[in-house]
Amino acid sequence: MINQDYLQATIEDMVQAGRGILAADESEPTIAKRFKAIDLASTEENRRAYRSLLLSTPGLGEYISGVILFEETLTQKTDDGRLFPALAWGQKIVPGIKVDKGNIQLALHPGDLVTQGLDGLAQRLQTYRDQGGRFAKWREIYAISERVPSTSGIAANAEMLARYAAVCQSEGLVPIVEPEVLMDGDHSIERCAEVTEAVLHAVFHALCRHHVVLEHLLLKPNMVVAGKEQPESSPEAVAAITLKVLRRTVPAAVPGINFLSGGLIPVQATANLNALNRCDRPSPWRLGFSYGRALQQPVLLAWGGKPENIQAAQQVLLKRARLNSLAMRGGYAPEMEND
Ligand code: 13P
Repeated sequence: MINQDYLQATIEDMVQAGRGILAADESEPTIAKRFKAIDLASTEENRRAYRSLLLSTPGLGEYISGVILFEETLTQKTDDGRLFPALAWGQKIVPGIKVDKGNIQLALHPGDLVTQGLDGLAQRLQTYRDQGGRFAKWREIYAISERVPSTSGIAANAEMLARYAAVCQSEGLVPIVEPEVLMDGDHSIERCAEVTEAVLHAVFHALCRHHVVLEHLLLKPNMVVAGKEQPESSPEAVAAITLKVLRRTVPAAVPGINFLSGGLIPVQATANLNALNRCDRPSPWRLGFSYGRALQQPVLLAWGGKPENIQAAQQVLLKRARLNSLAMRGGYAPEMEND
């Protein structure tokens, strides 16, 4: 199969009604932080046990079409010896991989960050593809203050995302392009909209400059929300302003937009997604989720690192996945949380 057909087949396996993406690609420092919250050491065995719990949840494939994994997970196995990518495929879940190597300060630009990992990326992608990965993810992050993100911060990050996406497509992997405007701070929802719009403009401009095929990528943006230190906006307000920004910046050729949860509490992430899918005007893209914390936080609490809690934790995951699936169809209601 030539690359374009291969990429199109991956898109069709991933962009489906009522099915979203589970982000389970926490880097070692991040998973250590998540495990610390349940008093669990981040050993390789604990990480394996936890990710095995997630991927072997019976029925998960009904609501989840793709899973983002961290590098070590590609070669780990279940207790009965199955590799995790094979376990995902068994549920019709497409396995993918986080390929960026985290961020550093952008030199001479206090407050701007930039992500690393382009060196040797093509070779790494070939290995990941041989291990069963069909898509990749790369995240750039943008803090908001009066001074940042700066114009050059926005341009540098857009260039990184576009170069990453071009390498992915040339190696036959669908790129998930993730520009995340952070929620930290006390900025208004309007300021988040202004920054998100500038960021997405720059990202799509760079993607076009680098000849990235828009039909063969997925966008993973933040929802437009006020800073964490502000009162929460209603789901309807978040949906209206988020769609306004997306319509101004994201070409209709992009097949799917899978939002990150970025620190929203799970119920809020679901309610916002539901409101996004209930807007009167139809959207050209499928609006779904690619949640990490909003799917996993309650699962971690239910599991607590104890084998006897595995089934209960899987039920929690299945419930959140199902409610987010309903939200993709605009069919979620808060009362469903009590079922
Ligand atoms: P959150 O949904 O927790 O923001 O994680 C998504 C993700 O993949 C961040 O890169």
